[in-house]
Amino acid sequence: MRTHHCGKLNKDHLNEEVIICGWIHRRRDHGGVIFLDVRDTTGIVQVVINPENEQAFKVADEIRSEFVIKAKGVVEGRPEDSQNEQLTTGEIEIKSSSIELLNTADTPAFPLNQSSDVGEDVRLKNRTLDLRRPEMQKNLRLKSKLTKAIRDYLEGDNYVDIETPILTKATPEGARDYLVPSRTSPGNFFALPQSPQLFKQMLMISGFDRYYQIARCFRDEDLRADRQPEFSQVDIEASFVEEADIMKTAEEMIASAFKTVMDTDLGNVPQIKWHDAMEKYGCDKPDLRNPLKLVELSEIFKTEEFKVFSDPANDKNSRIAALVVPEGEKIGRGQIDRYTDYVKEFGAKGLAYIKVEGNDHNGLSSPILKYLSEDCLKDILKNLDVKKGDLIFFGAGKGKVVNDYMSRLIAKLGEDLQLIQEGFSACWVTDFPMFEEASDGTLTSLHHPFTSPVETNIDELGKLDPLNINSKAYDMVINGIEIGGGSIRIHRKDMQEKVFDLLGLSEDEAQQKFGFFLRTLTSGCPPHGGIAFGLDRLAMLMVGADSIRDVIAFPKTQSAVCLLTEAPGSVKDESLDELHISRKED
Ligand code: AMO
Ligand code: AMP
Repeated sequence: MRTHHCGKLNKDHLNEEVIICGWIHRRRDHGGVIFLDVRDTTGIVQVVINPENEQAFKVADEIRSEFVIKAKGVVEGRPEDSQNEQLTTGEIEIKSSSIELLNTADTPAFPLNQSSDVGEDVRLKNRTLDLRRPEMQKNLRLKSKLTKAIRDYLEGDNYVDIETPILTKATPEGARDYLVPSRTSPGNFFALPQSPQLFKQMLMISGFDRYYQIARCFRDEDLRADRQPEFSQVDIEASFVEEADIMKTAEEMIASAFKTVMDTDLGNVPQIKWHDAMEKYGCDKPDLRNPLKLVELSEIFKTEEFKVFSDPANDKNSRIAALVVPEGEKIGRGQIDRYTDYVKEFGAKGLAYIKVEGNDHNGLSSPILKYLSEDCLKDILKNLDVKKGDLIFFGAGKGKVVNDYMSRLIAKLGEDLQLIQEGFSACWVTDFPMFEEASDGTLTSLHHPFTSPVETNIDELGKLDPLNINSKAYDMVINGIEIGGGSIRIHRKDMQEKVFDLLGLSEDEAQQKFGFFLRTLTSGCPPHGGIAFGLDRLAMLMVGADSIRDVIAFPKTQSAVCLLTEAPGSVKDESLDELHISRKED
């Protein structure tokens, strides 16, 4: 249909007759001469139509934005004063001899030829228009390149691409399942996979040694900027491996993807133990580009009279975290109040602070100084690396709550004070606890219930406080975003049953949910482990998008609906009858 792409034409094509196809980006009528900016995926070229060219002129006269055309003409140089440096094709134009209108278009919901603040809902509803924007074209092309780089790496390392079912049984990954009713098994439901976890483990039991898949996963959970209800994982599993083997492969794969796609060296990927990450950053996904860190100061407040600090200092589930802001003296009173209000949104009772205005404890200034002893002030300075002009914030209270708000404060201060370095900074978080306590006091898995504990002797394991059991799990974090997580798995049935037991799953429940899997564990299951990376999150990081929706062609909104197709939609009563489902009246 065409001889060239619009954006590829340049002075090398002077005097050539060419045919291009594309959308009308802009139409201008300059006193009888019509100029069309024609856009395709490669860029924009200017087509000029003179009135002498009756056929072309007549068509061009009626053309509007986003109409689809095919234009034939000769490439000519533009006069010097009308060259456009913004366009790669800016030195030339096509003198058109004939134009064919391939399709008309309704007036676009938003203009593509000027930057305008378009709400995301409008973009998502008119996604085919939105995806024509160069930014979205670039994002999705980068994601395609990323997928290829990852496939190339894994195929080169003997990983086998194997598909696993979408209609399946529940795989617990901490979210709710999307359920699909079965017509042929009345009253029963398939669950869409939250991940291919059990299938990839069963592929190891099946002797495949190395598996990978770009797998679609489905999770019904509260959505955030980096979460979608359906998303893609780079899912990996290997047999006869230990933590270091999987981490090495994963690191090399991610580094090769960054090199191929971004021409960037990912550099050193330090390993941080989970407990250290929580103590220093208040979270298990630290952004190492941000220099701000927490320092635990409970010890020095134990005997102080100031109850705001001495109570948490003497409670084993609490902490006192100090955060030094270099040159923080420039943060005014009003701004400190705004930070206090910010942390209060996340459960803080207050946000004490001390300004370092001199070189020793006499140079400190703060509303809380009067409550603290001189020794305590000296200890604060001894324990913190501060200099004149710095500001110290203090978070005191239940460890979980303090960690949550202080890690958010670190991120906010990093951004406000422009402390975050450019580029990418990756790390591994290792030595996760196996379990955490849910609000109702029951245990839940920090990763998933198939993760191996570090202690592999069942009797010894039984003697430990479950909250002190560590797991062989690891996460990769880049720029504060968890992009991947995995573990060495449990490969023995008795250990898997023990972990189900610790999680409060009765034998019957375990059989009903995972009986099929427990059976495969006794058929000769090799030691194995793996990892899964969030492909969309990786792409989001690479393109520098704030939202995961900007790297997914047809995403869902925060409330998990598709504005384009209006899914989920209602179904007729007859369809429900076939599925043996009746509606519950509200
Ligand atoms: P996990 O649940 O940590 O592990 O998921 C692995 C990675 O998938 C990405 N991810 C998401 N991306 C977008 N939207 C979501 N809702 C979403 N949820 C997760 C994250 C995350 O790091 N089966 C295990 C992996 C394993 O143990 O091998 C699993 O699914 O980047
Ligand atoms: P109060 O005695 O509640 O007026 O608090 C005295 C100072 O301590 C104020 O600056 C509060 O912002 C701060 N503060 C109160 N509770 C906490 C807390 N849990 N953690 C850190 N600072 C706090």
